[in-house]
Order: sequence, then structure tokens, then C-alpha cells
Amino acid sequence: MVDETSIFIGASRKPDDSYQRAEELLLRYGNRHGLVTGATGTGKTVSLQILAEGFSNAGVPVFCADIKGDLSGISMMGEAKDFLVKRAEQVKLDPYQFQEFPVIFWDLFGEQGHPIRATISEMGPLLLSRLMNLTEAQEGVMNIAFRIADEEGLLLLDLKDLQALLANIAERADELSARYGNVTKPSVGAIQRTLLVLEQQGAANFFGEPALRIADIMRTTRDGRGAISVLAADKLMMNPRLYATFLLWLMSELFEELPEVGDLDKPKLVFFFDEAHLLFEDAPKVLIDRVEQVVRLIRSKGVGVYFVTQNPLDIPEKVLAQLGNRVQHALRAYTPREQQAVRTAADTFRPNPDFDCATAITQLATGEALVSMLEDKGVPAMVQRTLIRPPSSRLGPITPDERRKIIAQSPVAGQYDQVVDRESAFEILQKKAKEAQDAEAQAQQQNSGGSRWTIPGFDDVLGTGNRRSSNRQTVAEAAIKSVVRSVGSSVGRAIVRGILGSLARGR
Ligand SMILES: Nc1ncnc2c1ncn2[C@@H]1O[C@H](COP(=O)(O)OP(=O)(O)OP(=O)(O)O)[C@@H](O)[C@H]1O
Ligand SMILES: [Mg+2]
Repeated sequence: MVDETSIFIGASRKPDDSYQRAEELLLRYGNRHGLVTGATGTGKTVSLQILAEGFSNAGVPVFCADIKGDLSGISMMGEAKDFLVKRAEQVKLDPYQFQEFPVIFWDLFGEQGHPIRATISEMGPLLLSRLMNLTEAQEGVMNIAFRIADEEGLLLLDLKDLQALLANIAERADELSARYGNVTKPSVGAIQRTLLVLEQQGAANFFGEPALRIADIMRTTRDGRGAISVLAADKLMMNPRLYATFLLWLMSELFEELPEVGDLDKPKLVFFFDEAHLLFEDAPKVLIDRVEQVVRLIRSKGVGVYFVTQNPLDIPEKVLAQLGNRVQHALRAYTPREQQAVRTAADTFRPNPDFDCATAITQLATGEALVSMLEDKGVPAMVQRTLIRPPSSRLGPITPDERRKIIAQSPVAGQYDQVVDRESAFEILQKKAKEAQDAEAQAQQQNSGGSRWTIPGFDDVLGTGNRRSSNRQTVAEAAIKSVVRSVGSSVGRAIVRGILGSLARGR
């Protein structure tokens, strides 16, 4: 039952609760983004699941985060449970067929899926500062650190590269302040301490190589189905900042790497952003603006972004305005803020004279939603009270054993498992420090031969220091030059990519 042009969502109901018609998401508007909202336990994850199934069947790869582990069931064949079969009948899904989907499991910690990594350079100063919750002054220092890395040909791949660079910057704080503006030892020290915290939280796994290749989340199977990348996010959710920063990074990578494609008959990739409120929670305005910009522009690259969150008020208005396909599950309306959320949610729909939207939102049953998809010419359809179809894959989590099997058979098995630690800032700075030390020792030998008055630690007093320090400088300069030569073309990659990073640089 593969429909070429649309995804079956469920069946809308008439005011007397009888069957009205099939509700569908038109694939050609799949890149016009979407929103799935609702209180806990109202059916958001199942709605995400049936949308992901639909996209996969249409040949569209999907990336989604699995917050509670209950989305993993999408990799297994569903079972004919009574309530599911009944729901299938209600929405006239006939035949109700079961299916397992091609899933690739990913995990930033490398435990419940293939490790996902990014390099520090790719992440860029803006996202890193957000990840580390830096002050404005510290963010300034971070920007300078990236500039220095670029200029001096130091590759920033993992956390220890960044640590080494910061230590180096602290040593040269005076010199660098003169060149770039305020680089104080305390602010560098504060960043270094935050880095340690980040490391303790397990982020060290995430930074390094091999970094994720975008092509690996855009795979299709031989029978033409889109791979569903499922990111294990239960542990990740304990570090919401890392979660949000990672997904932002991924979105900006997609934006940077994919070509403009204009209007397609279906998206190139669909990206589900669960717990989307974490993206925007106490995010600085500049970041929200960037997100808004990326969401707006990524459409023309054929990427659809679907935000999943409890409350539509969680999403900034400018972003909300761009989310065309909407599934609104039930909301509670006890407190004034909840009532406000219900009104906001109701106001965003094209009204249906058959019912009052705000009232309906509070009365929806589990797995029922107000649905409005984009129809002809990309105009939002009149909102409909819709029973969502049951999934074809398993409802609920898979076992650790099932997961292991899928990971072992994955098309990327073996590709990301081993960390590759090639020469980068850490190693280079270490080597440089050693060279400088050797040169110093040599100079000292020469000096002590030429001057009878050298006492270690009192050179300047004795007037032999000048010669040596100029000597040291020359050696250091030579080292930098050789580094620049040896790194060569990879310096280009050290320049921060991603609209989120590159725009920050131009600020
Ligand atoms: N379309 C549906 N068809 C059949 N059953 C459904 C459907 N949607 C939801 N359900 C039932 O409701 C339960 C809860 O749904 P779901 O897990 O999607 O809620 P949720 O909004 O994601 O909750 P939470 O916020 O806690 O993650 C499901 O386990 C399932 O039993
Ligand atoms: Mg859920």
C-alpha cells in the first residue's frame, strides 16, 4: 500500500463522530516542515512513528531522536493487538499490514548505536559557547581561539585539542590581547574549567573523528525505502544542552552540505526534533535568529524539519510560522498558562465551522489530534478532528538483544566504531613546546659556555637573557611555519563551517 504522493495520517470525524475522510500529508510539501504537539501520553510519539514510517515507505530517509527508547520499535514488525486492529478499522486502514523498517541506530555515547562524532572545528565557536554556557566575554575568547587556530594552522578535532590550545593561549595572553583584544587569563581559565565539566559529562566521546558523514543518514535501501536513523537520546537527555547543540549542529551541517534543489515531489530528508523546547530554552536571541534562518532556508535543500514538543508556546513565533504540517494532540487547560497555550494552538489553525478549536483541543482522546496539512498551492487545510492511524511497526521499545543484532547488520557497521586520533592541535602544540624546550636547553649550553656568570633563573639580571629569548622566538616561529606547511589543505577544514558557526564569525 505504498502511495506515491502522500502519507496516510488517519481519518477525520464528522461532528457526530462518524467517519469523514482520509487525512494525508502531501509529500511534495513534506519539506514545508511540521509540528507535533500535545500533553504527555496523548500520542505524540506514535504520530511521529507513523509519519516516519510513511516517509520511509516513500523513499525518504528520516532522522529522529528517541527520547524514551519507545521509538526503537519502529525497527520491528508490529503485532495485531486488539486496540490497534480496532483503530485500523475506525480509520478504514484496509488491509492493515505489518512491517519492519530499515533502522540505523546512533548514539553519541556509542552504547546503543553507532557513535556519532563531530570535530570541534565543525561545531564552531557559537555552538560550543552555547554548549558550554559561556558568558559573552568568554565567548569572545572562544572566537579568538578559533581565529588563532585558523591562522596558526592548528586543527581542532577533539576536546584535548581545544584544551591544549586554551593552555597555549593562557601562556600568551599578553601578546594575544595586544593583537586581538581582551584575552584574560581568568576568562581562559573559566573556559578550561567548563571544558573539564563537559568532559566529565561524557562529551569527550562526541568530539573527534571519524566525524559523521551526512551521506550516512541519507541512505535508502535496495527496495527503495528511506533509512530511519534513530538517535538514542535517553542518556543524552540528561545533558539537554549537548542534545540541543548536537541537533543544531546536524541541522547546520545539512544546510551547509546539501545543494539547493528547489521544489521536489518529495523531501530528500526529514528531521524530527523531539523535545524541541530544549532548543530554545534560555537560548540567546542571536541563536534563535540563526535557527529561524536555518529552518527557513533548509527547505530549499529538500529537508523537512518536524518539531515535536508538548506546548506550541515552546516554539518562537517566527519559527512556528514556518511549520506547515500540524498535528495537535490534546492539551490540558487548568492553569492560565495552559489556557493561553490552548488558545495559541487553536489560533494557528484555519478554523472549521463544525467545531470550536480551543474546546476540541482539551477534549481529544489519546491518539486523536487536530490535523491540518498543507494542501494544494501549499495552503493549510481547514483543521480536522482526526483519529491517527496505528503504526505498522512495533509499538514500544525493542530488547537490547534485538538492538545488538540490528547494529551488527547495519550498513555503517565498523565505520565509526574506532576513534581515529590524527595529528592535530594537541600533538602539534606538544611538539612545539618540546622543540622550544630543546632549543632553550641548547641555547643555555651555548650561553653557559660563553658566559661565566649564568645562574639558572637569573639570566636577565646577568644580561644574557635577551639573546636567548630572541633565539627561542625564532625556533617557535620556525615551528609554526612548518606546522602550516604540513597541515596544508586541511587548514581549510579548520575554518568553521555551518551557518551557525560561520555567521558568528562575521558578527
Ligand atoms: N495512533 C494511535 N493508535 C493506537 N494507539 C495509540 C495511537 N497513539 C497513541 N496510542 C496509545 O497511546 C499511548 C501513548 O502514546 P505516545 O507514547 O505516543 O504518547 P506521547 O505523547 O508520546 O507521550 P509522552 O509525552 O509521555 O512521550 C501509546 O502507547 C498507545 O498505546
Ligand atoms: Mg513520547
